[in-house]
Amino acid sequence: MADYKITLLKGDGIGPEIVDQAVKVLNKAADKFGFGVTYDEALLGGCAIDATGVPLPEETVAKCKASDSVILGAVGGPKWDDQPGNNRPEAGLLGIRGALGLFANLRPSVIFGPLKSASPIKDEIIGDNMDIMIVRELTGGIYFGERGKSEDAAWDTEKYSVAEIERIARVAFDMAMKRNKKLTSVDKANVLESSRLWRKTVIEVSKEYPEVELNHMYVDNCAMQLVRNPKQFDVIVTSNIFGDILSDEASMIAGSIGMLASASLSGGKLGLYEPIHGSAPDIAGLGIANPLATILSVAMMLRYSLGQPQAADAIEAAVSEVLKTNRTPDIYEDGMNKVSCSQMGDLVCEAL
Ligand code: NAD
Ligand code: IPM
Ligand code: MN
Repeated sequence: MADYKITLLKGDGIGPEIVDQAVKVLNKAADKFGFGVTYDEALLGGCAIDATGVPLPEETVAKCKASDSVILGAVGGPKWDDQPGNNRPEAGLLGIRGALGLFANLRPSVIFGPLKSASPIKDEIIGDNMDIMIVRELTGGIYFGERGKSEDAAWDTEKYSVAEIERIARVAFDMAMKRNKKLTSVDKANVLESSRLWRKTVIEVSKEYPEVELNHMYVDNCAMQLVRNPKQFDVIVTSNIFGDILSDEASMIAGSIGMLASASLSGGKLGLYEPIHGSAPDIAGLGIANPLATILSVAMMLRYSLGQPQAADAIEAAVSEVLKTNRTPDIYEDGMNKVSCSQMGDLVCEAL
C-alpha cells in the first residue's frame, strides 16, 4: 500500500482551521482509496517568526524536501506587518517556493454548478462550464528581482531570462494540449522590455506545439476580458505578479476567493498545495472560513503529485454535491444551510 509523507505548513490566521479540514478529507480519501498518509508539521510565516525569529527556518525546508508533498494554509497578518522587509511572513513563502524550485503555479478557476448563482457575474456570461487554468510563473520576475531603497526612493526589478520563460511556457502549452488547445499569454509588451522578451520567447516555444492556438493579450485588457467574457479563456500563462493579481480576480467569477485552489510544481513529483487566498485576519478564529479552496488543493495534490486521480475526482465530486445545499458565509445564498468551516469539512467527508 502506498504511504505518502505529507508536510503540513498550517501558517497563520485561518491557516490552521482550513488545513485541519483538508487533513480530514485526505484521511477519508486514504481510507476509501486504500493508501496511507503520515503527517509532519513545520513552521512557516508569522508563527515561525514568533517561535524562531525567522519566517522560514532551515528545518522547515528540510522537512518539505523529505516529503512527498506539502500542504500550506496561508501566512501573514497585521501582527507582523511592521517586520523589516525580508523578515516578513510573506518572505518565508517566497523562500520556500524558491528553495523547492516551485516555478509553476497552477490556479484553476472552475465554476461548480451549484455556485453559479453565488457568482457576482451574470449566468449567461459565465456559461455552463467556465474552466480557466491560470499558469503563473512563481520563482522569477519582480518578486525575486533586485530590490533596494535609499532615503527617498525604493525599487524592485522585473527580470526574466529566456530559460525561465521557456520552462513556464512549456508547462502552459502541455496543459493546453490536455485541455482545449487554446493558450493566452498575458504580458505588458507595449511598455515593458521584460514582457517583450516574454512574448518573443512564448512565440518561439509555440513552434513546438503547432496544435495549440496561441494569442497574446495585454494584462490590463485581460483584467477587463475576464469579467466581460471569461468563456474565451482556456489556459492563461503569465508572469509572477500578473498571475497573482489575475487569479484573485478570476476567483470571484467562481463565487469566492475561498474556492480557488492551487498547485506549485517544480517539474518533479514534489509539489506545494495551497489555496490562493491569504490568512484572512478579519475572520481568523471565528470558524467561518471557507475550507474548500484548501480541500480542492488536496485534490490537486492527489492528481499532480501522488498519482491518485480517482481520489482527486471523488473529492471534487463530493465538493460539488455538498455545495448544492451547504454554504460557508462567503458563498451563502438564501435557502441554503449556513455551515461553519469544520462542518464544511465534515460534510465533504460524508459525501466522499
Ligand atoms: P486574504 O485573501 O487573506 O483576504 C481577502 C478577503 O477575502 C478578506 O475579507 C477575507 O476574509 C476573505 N477570504 C480569504 N480567504 C477566505 C476564505 N477561505 N473564506 C472566506 N473568506 C475568505 O487577503 P489579504 O487580506 O489581502 O491578506 C491578508 C494576509 O494574508 C496578508 O498578510 C497577506 O500578505 C497574506 N496572504 C498570504 C497568502 C498565502 O499565504 N498564500 C496569500 C495572500 C495573502
Ligand atoms: C499568493 C500570495 C503571495 C504572492 C504573497 C503572500 C507572497 O498573494 O500566493 O497569491 O503574492 O504570491
Ligand atoms: Mn495572491
